[in-house]
Order: sequence, then structure tokens, then C-alpha cells
Amino acid sequence: MRRCLVVGNWKMHGSVSAVTALVAALKNEISFDSHAEVAVCPPFVFISAVAAALADSGIAWGAQTLDEHEKGAFTGEISAAMLADLGCRYVIVGHSERRSLYAEDDSRVAAKFMAAQASGLIPILCVGENLQQREEGQALDIVQRQLTAVIAMAGIEAFNRAVVAYEPVWAIGTGKTATPEQAQQVHAHIRQVLSCADAAVAEQIQILYGGSVNAGNALELFASLDIDGALVGGASLKSDEFTAICKAGG
Ligand code: PGA
Repeated sequence: MRRCLVVGNWKMHGSVSAVTALVAALKNEISFDSHAEVAVCPPFVFISAVAAALADSGIAWGAQTLDEHEKGAFTGEISAAMLADLGCRYVIVGHSERRSLYAEDDSRVAAKFMAAQASGLIPILCVGENLQQREEGQALDIVQRQLTAVIAMAGIEAFNRAVVAYEPVWAIGTGKTATPEQAQQVHAHIRQVLSCADAAVAEQIQILYGGSVNAGNALELFASLDIDGALVGGASLKSDEFTAICKAGG
């Protein structure tokens, strides 16, 4: 039985005071024995503060990206080992904003996925089609290509310690959520692609949905067979909204 996982992606939002208040509220509202697994991914500069505040809670933390190199002359970048040192459990890789705004292609995403795992982090691999690709009926092919690129480089075994997030680009930050049927179709396809390589790996992996998830649509999405949680952007910045999504997960 896969547990529901709800991850907050705070993107480039917050301040020391705002983050402190948000984490205090989440700690209050999300009980230690929450049925869903919960994690938040703050901007790098707030990870230490969040880690200190959440150390004795059931809420995990992670980062929004990482550099694929181990260390060296990469000004401004952050390595997997640094994130592991801060107690991060997760790191998001291949978010559509990284792919489109920072030109991260499939092979770079795969390298980041592997770097994360080499330091013991759990990568949350994001895949998803844009609006044009959906309208042209290519959604399943795009997602399969993005996934296969990582399987080819990292190997299927690596997915025993990974999470996949299906995030249709047209649903991110737009208020336009995929219907549970649209999401379920892609989630089932992702599981099928993984299953072709290893059925046991496919069965245990958590596949999250992301794209305008909120307190009003979470329950319906989580009811779908292959949707095992959510990657939440905008709604994760509001403690009451995020808590409600976590509660919808069990
Ligand atoms: P959103 O973002 O919930 O604001 O649509 C999701 C994401 O980008 O992970």
C-alpha cells in the first residue's frame, strides 16, 4: 500500500519572518502521526531555518533543485552533499520551470537525479507536457520520453528510492487543474512504463500530481488509483490550505 505524499514547493517566495511563521503554523496543524507523508521545499537560503524548526516534527524538508556536480568551481550552485548535510530528505529535479527557464534537458535532469541519489537524497522527478503538446495528443509520449531518459541513465533500480511527479505545464500556476481522469491516464502510463522495466519498482513508487492542486480538488485527485499525492506550489504557501491538502491525503 503506497502512502500519500504531499510536498510543498515554495518556489522563490518568502522571507525569514514569513517562512518562520509558515513552518510554525504547519507544525501546529499537521500532527506527527499524519497519515500522509508531508514535506516542504523552501528556497535554499531558508533550508537551515526550516530544518531547525521542523527537526522534532513529522514533516520532512527538501530543496527545489541541485547541481549535478559533486563539488568544485561552480559559482552559485548547491551540491547534493550540501543538501544532505542540512538533513534534506527530498530534492525536486526537472521541474518544468527549470527545464524551460534554465534550459535543463533530459540528460542534465538525469544527471541531477543520479547526483541526488549518490548523496542519499530522494529525487522527485518532474515530468509533464505543455499545452501545445497536449493539444497535439502527445502528452503520453512526452512524459514517456522524459521518464525513459532517466531510466536509461540511472537504471530502473534507482526508482526504488525516487518519487515521480506528473505536472502538466498548462496546469502549473494557472488555476487550471487536470481532471482526475486526465491525471489518472498519465499516472497509469507512467506506472506502465516503469512496469515494463520492473513491475515491483512500478508498484511501490509514489507518483504525485502537480498543477493547481488546492484544498478543493485534492480529495478528488487522491481518490484516483495511481495518484499517490501532490506536489503543491501556490497553495503550499498558505498554512490552512496546505494543511487541508495534507489531510485529504489521509
Ligand atoms: P502550482 O505549482 O500548485 O502553483 O500550480 C505546482 C508546481 O509547480 O510544482
